[in-house]
Amino acid sequence: MASGQKIPARMTAIAISEPGGPRVLKPETRDVPLPGPGEILIKVHAAGVNRPDVQQRKGAYPPPPGASDLPGLEVSGEVAALGDEISRWRIGDRVCALTPGGGYAEYARVHAGSVLPLPAGFTHTEAAAVPENYFTVWHNVFERGGLKKGETLLVHGGSSGIGTTAIQLASAFGAYVITTAGSQEKCDACLKLGADRAINYREQDFVAAVKEATEGRGANVILDMVGGDYIQRNYEAAAVEGRIVQIAVQAGAVASADFSKVMVKRLTHTGSTLRPRSVEFKAAIAAALEAQIWPLLGTRKVAPVMDMIYPLTDAWRAHERMEEGDHIGKIVLDVG
Ligand SMILES: NC(=O)c1ccc[n+]([C@@H]2O[C@H](COP(=O)([O-])OP(=O)(O)OC[C@H]3O[C@@H](n4cnc5c(N)ncnc54)[C@H](OP(=O)(O)O)[C@@H]3O)[C@@H](O)[C@H]2O)c1
Repeated sequence: MASGQKIPARMTAIAISEPGGPRVLKPETRDVPLPGPGEILIKVHAAGVNRPDVQQRKGAYPPPPGASDLPGLEVSGEVAALGDEISRWRIGDRVCALTPGGGYAEYARVHAGSVLPLPAGFTHTEAAAVPENYFTVWHNVFERGGLKKGETLLVHGGSSGIGTTAIQLASAFGAYVITTAGSQEKCDACLKLGADRAINYREQDFVAAVKEATEGRGANVILDMVGGDYIQRNYEAAAVEGRIVQIAVQAGAVASADFSKVMVKRLTHTGSTLRPRSVEFKAAIAAALEAQIWPLLGTRKVAPVMDMIYPLTDAWRAHERMEEGDHIGKIVLDVG
């Protein structure tokens, strides 16, 4: 292992003391992890907060085998040490990375294939808000959903970290973007980000609104994080040959749906979860993002929407804010 400045043996991290509410997130002193072959150690300056962290805290989303038990799926910071077999990165490089867990800490061990340079001109808090959402949206909307220029994307949860990313990327690539959100303020924020149409789902039926906006054709790709009764309604809102990509089932994993729509419209209903995928898979997404999206981040054609920043030791407040549901965009922890 190669390292630059002296790395301490112990660090502050935020652990899940037991499954439960935000207050179970507690500072602990832990050993600084050592990078293995193909891995780097990052001195973390900022860590992104994501809905899956909330699920993990509640005991509903256990870390995959081999991953840290600490929450945190994305970080930004400096390369502090290199494991064997690392050629691209040098000590001191400013980077951001997708982590399989362990982001809520002063140091995080990550596979080199999940690491990207800090986008030009970005602060660490901004860069920490990028990996989880950009990896997820790139794979699900463009690779799995196959969204093309001129097609219509329907994004549910438009004001979420994922939603704000999907709106910006799809509109940057020339799609017509329709989104749903739960308040007028959230709809206005989505329109400012480039959505062509924002539907307040508490006041309007999104199926009717999508049909109206597309002159009856429906959406070519639907990114859904809701599930439950949205399954059937997505089938109704989809265009012929539509692709529906499921990335979460917040309103329920079990639903009753009329599958004749799948046949009649020749729909594809697919989905994925990012965290358990292989390091090779994540490295391939990282390469695609660096080639296609990093230039857009560098000119701020797209950028994470920053909601609130909390100190690491106030991670519980960050979770409280996320669960209150008033946030627009990303919540980030400042690790120092
Ligand atoms: N599959 C994957 O690989 C992957 C990766 C990352 C994240 N995710 C999932 O993607 C989702 C967004 O993550 P995030 O970190 O961006 O979370 P977030 O900012 O907390 O967003 C959650 C969103 O879900 C919407 N929502 C929740 N329940 C709803 C319902 N019953 N009807 C309509 N909308 C509902 C909320 O919309 P309103 O506030 O407008 O009601 C909110 O915008 C989460 O479910 C997360 O688990 C999946």
